[in-house]
Amino acid sequence: MSHTTGSHRRFIYLATIITAVGGMLFGYDTGIISSAILYLKEQFHMSPILEEAVVSAVLIGAVLGAAVSGYLADQYGRRRVIIISAIIFILSSIETAFAGSVVQLIIGRIIVGIAIGLASCIAPLYISEISIPKIRGKLVGFNQLAITIGILIAYLVGFGFSYEVGNWHWMFLTAIIPAALLGVGMFFMPRSPRWLMKQGKPDQAKLVLEKLRPQSVIQSEIENIQATLCSEENNKINIFTNPKVKAVLIIGALLSIIQQVTGINVIIYYSATIFKMAHVHSDSHAILSSVYVGIVNVFFTIVSMMLVDHWGRRKLLLTSLYGMIIGLVLMAVFFMLPQLSSALDILVLVSVLIYIAAFAVGLGPIFWLLTAELFPLEVRGRCMSVVVVLNWLFNLILGLSFLSIVDAISAAGCFWLLAGLSILSVIYVYKRVPETKGKTLEEIQNELILH
Ligand code: BGC
Repeated sequence: MSHTTGSHRRFIYLATIITAVGGMLFGYDTGIISSAILYLKEQFHMSPILEEAVVSAVLIGAVLGAAVSGYLADQYGRRRVIIISAIIFILSSIETAFAGSVVQLIIGRIIVGIAIGLASCIAPLYISEISIPKIRGKLVGFNQLAITIGILIAYLVGFGFSYEVGNWHWMFLTAIIPAALLGVGMFFMPRSPRWLMKQGKPDQAKLVLEKLRPQSVIQSEIENIQATLCSEENNKINIFTNPKVKAVLIIGALLSIIQQVTGINVIIYYSATIFKMAHVHSDSHAILSSVYVGIVNVFFTIVSMMLVDHWGRRKLLLTSLYGMIIGLVLMAVFFMLPQLSSALDILVLVSVLIYIAAFAVGLGPIFWLLTAELFPLEVRGRCMSVVVVLNWLFNLILGLSFLSIVDAISAAGCFWLLAGLSILSVIYVYKRVPETKGKTLEEIQNELILH
């Protein structure tokens, strides 16, 4: 099943890379607001409440987009939803770039968020359904790599503008280039063979598989997919009540919450603020330190892609959480010791980098990989929707509450709290998360659901 020739493999990589552009927009559009807001608040004379509304609008949109993504993907197909998300990206980027009022800005950002929510759910799903087991971890990892590259570009743009008056119009408008690439590129990519099977179109699925696999393995793949569908065909599954689906849905949901409540976006959104708390005096230096965070995030995501199909998902996830705990405990301790004050900036930078490297090597990419692997084909889109909605919701909650938590219990208290949540996460992952390395999606489904 896992044999492919060079040309098939190249085609799978091409489809993966084009799809992953959706991840880049996710990273760029969530990251760019922290720089753009500096200029927006001056131009529109925003109150702090309006400022928060503009910053969080994209996350609210993402919750909405993710909520409908699964239904749309099951109904109309994965590829079509990605193309729709690209069109929404283009239109909403133009709308935000030329917004003449705060209301227009907020509406534009919510719609950008809807596109992000759609793409964040469907891109990993589509990649996992066209790929082969042997390299599925690496391929779905491209999506996370693209997210991290998008975040890094947003940091670099922010840094570039930190010395002069920024032009926020361009910050939003540039997103239309990758969005157009995504839309046009996807137009030429095949539909997901698994979705076609689910729609009862084995002949078309076979045609798609001929582009992705050598002839000799196609028939058995078709039969395996068909077998998993047959076992559920007569039975319209309710994902919240069917006990077997519910069991995997809980694993996906908890992993999704774990990915957020262990603090990643506290670092991604507030790294410059954290460096300023650690006595980095100039804005530019604080933003430059964030650029280091972005670079380490990209680099260790690549390391993860090289390891995931050999080490497996569980080992990387656990290693990742251990590293994150070390980073968080160090941050907490450094912020607690006034005698370290003169070296606080460098110590905090090092501990943040340990944390981000650890996240990037495991919890970042592997959460998205597992959600695309765990659910049965019949309900894959709907289950992913639930899990991804939770991810954006907790992203929003943490993003909005970090500064108030620091106010209430200090920066050290906040990092202790995140370390505590990470320790609980280790226990959960150790006990409950299954290993999916090297198995076909149908084998995973048979092991987790049917038995
Ligand atoms: C997470 C995002 C996060 C990003 C950082 C993704 O896997 O879902 O919330 O901002 O990683 O690289």
